Amino acid sequence: MSLTHPSDSGANQRVPAVTAQSLLEMKRSGHAITALTAYDYPTARLVDQAGIDMILVGDSVGMAVLGYDTTLPVTMDEMLHHTRAVARGIQRSFLVADMPFGSYQASAEEAIRNASRFIKEASAHAVKIEGGQRRAELVQRLTDAEISVVAHIGLTPQSVHRMSGYRVQWRSSEAMAQLYADAVALEAAGAVAIVLEGIPREVAAEITARSGIPTIGIGAGPDCDGQILVFHDLFNLTFSAPAKFARRYADGAAFFANALERYRDDVTSRTFPSDAESYHLPRDLREELERPTELHPAGKD
Ligand code: KIV
Repeated sequence: MSLTHPSDSGANQRVPAVTAQSLLEMKRSGHAITALTAYDYPTARLVDQAGIDMILVGDSVGMAVLGYDTTLPVTMDEMLHHTRAVARGIQRSFLVADMPFGSYQASAEEAIRNASRFIKEASAHAVKIEGGQRRAELVQRLTDAEISVVAHIGLTPQSVHRMSGYRVQWRSSEAMAQLYADAVALEAAGAVAIVLEGIPREVAAEITARSGIPTIGIGAGPDCDGQILVFHDLFNLTFSAPAKFARRYADGAAFFANALERYRDDVTSRTFPSDAESYHLPRDLREELERPTELHPAGKD
């Protein structure tokens, strides 16, 4: 098979401009990696065109878009559906699909089958799984199956019940040692990057310095190799108070509310649509319509 003329149809399996290798080179050169979630085609296009290096179709889709209280109910079908839509909007970014709760815990075989679906059916470039040392063997199995894995440690939302809530809980020296051990094990197993969520800045800085693969922080301070945020946090579209680390760059809720209220008022006051926003008959048919006939004795009116 010749690999010298890859299809440029954009439909699937295109090698992106940003790869696991280029993320690694960014870490080595000290160039900060940008990452953001996206869940649909239009936002994926915007995020990609803004030059964001990595796009994660997070299982946060469950809370941000689907209205669930946690990420736990999100299914494989929902994740595949959203990942496909995002893939269609991407030209450059590295696309990571989150494996939903229950899709990788039962057995390595089932995890490989599910992870392969993201690569094969939804054009993802890597999958993300939550958990530290205890996932290292699975990361190794997925890597052996040619599937790139982004690991995720610290505050792992799929463990919300086991950890009794979403809290930064890594403030003891045992917990710190566990995080270091997690990062080492995941890197050794072949992970291409590690998301560090909700951990003290000092610990994230130390993991980043010790690690040979890029760290992507969320609520982990500025010393990580890159940063990720949830799209809806950036734009105030979550209908809740933001977490301490979630800087708002625009008030999307106010922007949409203002446009929606103006649309409602224009319709109720009959100023939308205007004549210029209407289609018209050609002049001869218009004149015909305006001539009195038996059916319309007074013309059009
Ligand atoms: O699901 C998600 O959006 C995530 C990010 C917070 C890293 O896992």
